[in-house]
Amino acid sequence: MKIAVTGKGGVGKTTISSLIARRLAERDFKVLAIDADADANFASALGIDIHQHQIQPISKMDELIEEKMGAGENVGQGLYTLNPFVGDVPERFSIHHKGVDFLAVGTITKGGAGCYCADNKMLKRLLNHIVLQRQEAVIIDMEAGLEHLSRGTAKGIDAFIVVVEPGQRSIETALNVKKMAKDIGIEKVYAIANKVRSDEELELIQSFLTDVELLSHIPYSGSISTADLKGMSPADSAGDELTATIDSIIKKFS
Ligand SMILES: Nc1ncnc2c1ncn2[C@@H]1O[C@H](COP(=O)(O)OP(=O)(O)OP(=O)(O)O)[C@@H](O)[C@H]1O
Ligand SMILES: [Mg+2]
Repeated sequence: MKIAVTGKGGVGKTTISSLIARRLAERDFKVLAIDADADANFASALGIDIHQHQIQPISKMDELIEEKMGAGENVGQGLYTLNPFVGDVPERFSIHHKGVDFLAVGTITKGGAGCYCADNKMLKRLLNHIVLQRQEAVIIDMEAGLEHLSRGTAKGIDAFIVVVEPGQRSIETALNVKKMAKDIGIEKVYAIANKVRSDEELELIQSFLTDVELLSHIPYSGSISTADLKGMSPADSAGDELTATIDSIIKKFS
């Protein structure tokens, strides 16, 4: 099971990614949780003590990138090792917490058109490896773009989950993601409505999501926002109803 969670800023991508990852682990799945977002906070949402573990994304590990991609005079000329071995990276750098292996990979550096920066190449290669070669369940917390993923990688993902909240902009983002995905041949885009406060909000969201299947919805929850405020994982205080919702999402892809 390989799931990528995306959506507009602040909609609840990291919250939902952590709930899915922690629940899978609780149900004895082997889980790899990947933070591919710029302001990395998936670790703390999983309950990892970020004061104890210094979390640096792979895309910022210059020495590692040099080790893998080649360095020296070639750098800057686009001459990198074409197929560096990255299979050791998850084991070398992931943090294990409550049954989840966590790895921060970082995000794409936006350069000029046709940028062949070593960090971006390495990141894409690593995601490709994780999605296509790893056997465990993989949950990727990522931004709304699909730049991280080559076509080949995207095809290996079972579901793109776009989180939407009651608000037009997040719905527009979802429709955009669907379109971007379609452009690269991916049909498996599903929405989860989050922070829903009424049936009316849910119905409105449903009516705007014209060609994206609404998989499930999560109500606005005081326990989720309080967990965040306390720096705790929402998974540690999830009640039966929320757990059942997460289980229904997992069931769809297992
Ligand atoms: N169902 C919910 N009920 C209440 N609060 C929620 C809910 N889901 C998420 N939140 C809160 O909304 C805020 C944003 O959530 P989160 O960080 O998961 O979003 P995000 O999409 O990952 O944001 P970013 O784009 O910054 O990465 C957090 O404070 C989180 O606790
Ligand atoms: Mg986030």
